[in-house]
Amino acid sequence: MYTMNPTKPVILTGVRANNDIHIGNYFGAILPIVDMAKRRSADFDINLFIPDLHSFTTPIDHSKLYDSILNNARIYTAAGLPLDNQAIHLYRQSRVPAHSELAWILDCFTGFGEMSRMTQFKDKSDKLHGDQISVGLFNYPVLMAADILLYNATYVPVGDDQTQHLEFTRDIAERMNRKFGELFTVPKPVAEQHQFFGKDQGLRIKDLANPTKKMSKSDDTGKGVIFLGDDPQAAHKKIMSATTDSLGKVQYDRENQPGISNLLEILTLVRQDAGRDVTLEQTISEFTGMERYGDFKRIVADETAEFLTNFQARLAAVDEPAIEAKLQSSEQAMNLVANQTLHRVQKAVGLRR
Ligand code: ADP
Ligand code: TRP
Repeated sequence: MYTMNPTKPVILTGVRANNDIHIGNYFGAILPIVDMAKRRSADFDINLFIPDLHSFTTPIDHSKLYDSILNNARIYTAAGLPLDNQAIHLYRQSRVPAHSELAWILDCFTGFGEMSRMTQFKDKSDKLHGDQISVGLFNYPVLMAADILLYNATYVPVGDDQTQHLEFTRDIAERMNRKFGELFTVPKPVAEQHQFFGKDQGLRIKDLANPTKKMSKSDDTGKGVIFLGDDPQAAHKKIMSATTDSLGKVQYDRENQPGISNLLEILTLVRQDAGRDVTLEQTISEFTGMERYGDFKRIVADETAEFLTNFQARLAAVDEPAIEAKLQSSEQAMNLVANQTLHRVQKAVGLRR
């Protein structure tokens, strides 16, 4: 069994359990996290967790949840996460009960008005009606704060849509510290986090059918989205019918040729995934000036289909027992760390001596 090293600072992040992971999530979130974990694990403890309790803040098909939780761990593994690295902890939120317990305590120190200002709640609840809008969706950021504060995390790499939640985490930690003494490590301010994670933040793959929009699983038609589980031939077709422009010349120009620019980016990413040492600049110079979009698209489509074939083979070949063992040992270790924090808080609020 291993534990966290108390002198090492902690980087913590979670990606929601979901079976519909698309190449935007993969190249924009999962791969950067895996790379970061590999690069930083000498100096940091890396907590990668699956926020499975967050999975049903909006309605889902519960018969698929268990499998999609494991699928998250499989995808990290297929993306290259080294399971034998003792500084990387891979665990399910629901297997560390302290998350829920701390969330309840923090709930009681969180203002209703403060939660009401969270824009993600407004965005998500706008798309639901009546009792579909749960109290869980409303106070989800409080659980997220507990996820972070239990482990004294200093760095929390998340997308822009989570910035407000991270700020809330800092606020509640500071408020509790003022009231009860030094209880929590306050995560670094968001600007400092951006500086620390640098280039990992910016990447945005666009929807193939509508390249001014980001690729997103909430796209209704699915025509512009390539999911990791797509049949490679179907993905090939999606790229062949990707929206381009009438300028008739391949150029990297996000403003005037968003479709072509997006394809240049996708091509670079799938080539990098295949182990080729290429930059976007090199891809751009290879194709700039090409006049037949059909030929260009075919190259992108072929290589993307090849990426999917390879990825799906990697996914099918992951070592299931090793993943299960990793989850179990991380969860055992994380319960120890999380309970230490929880007990400190329980003492502070008067639940324990
Ligand atoms: P979706 O928009 O498909 O619902 P999420 O909001 O669940 O995706 O995002 C999960 C993670 O994937 C986030 O870290 C987000 O920044 C990243 N991500 C989502 N869409 C893209 C995209 N099109 N390009 C790059 N990264 C993305
Ligand atoms: N809310 C995050 C998302 O939707 C997932 C998440 C839950 C998370 N708890 C977290 C991310 C703690 C970082 C830290 O993407």
